Amino acid sequence: MECRDRLKRGLPWIECVALLTARRTSWVGQAFSRHGPGSTLMQFTINGRAFEADVDIRTSLLDLCREHLGLTGAKKGCDHGQCGACTILLDGRRANACLALAVAHDGAELTTVEGLAAGDDLHPLQAAFIEHDAFQCGYCTPGQLCSAVGMLAEAEAEGVALDAAEIRERMSGNLCRCGAYPNIVAAIRAVESKKA
Ligand code: FES
Ligand code: FES
Repeated sequence: MECRDRLKRGLPWIECVALLTARRTSWVGQAFSRHGPGSTLMQFTINGRAFEADVDIRTSLLDLCREHLGLTGAKKGCDHGQCGACTILLDGRRANACLALAVAHDGAELTTVEGLAAGDDLHPLQAAFIEHDAFQCGYCTPGQLCSAVGMLAEAEAEGVALDAAEIRERMSGNLCRCGAYPNIVAAIRAVESKKA
């Protein structure tokens, strides 16, 4: 059984670990090579661009983006699903990329903070974060932005009205050590109010 199938079926991925070493990745159309039994070929669409990877099956989506694609917007804070700095959109839903094994999401569509803007036009949330001074050091900001994009979509789909308390609750998985929470909430509320 392929390691990918083991993971998808919930079998212990540790069974595969001994086989593995780091592998190459490539954008579709570029040179590609496979180096051994511990890797598996995966395909993704990342920020609208097709990508295929032959990487160690222990690779998280966060490491795939940061270490193999040079998409360093999503940050590694805790690497344990505790801080939200690594938040990306996975098939349109927000997810902690540090906890998601790439091999378990073969074929997925990913959006990182690099994919939010349309060229020079910032995403409304990005513009609102600037307008409302919703960051200080900025380390948490990529995760806050992706989480907010996902959260607004969730609330709309659920028909939930977003007051400040609801936003704080729904954004509680994204920590900010600089304590920019009031301005983050204000920025999200500003975007939400324009949508209404
Ligand atoms: S780095 Fe993923 S939740 Fe902290
Ligand atoms: S702006 Fe510094 S951690 Fe949030």
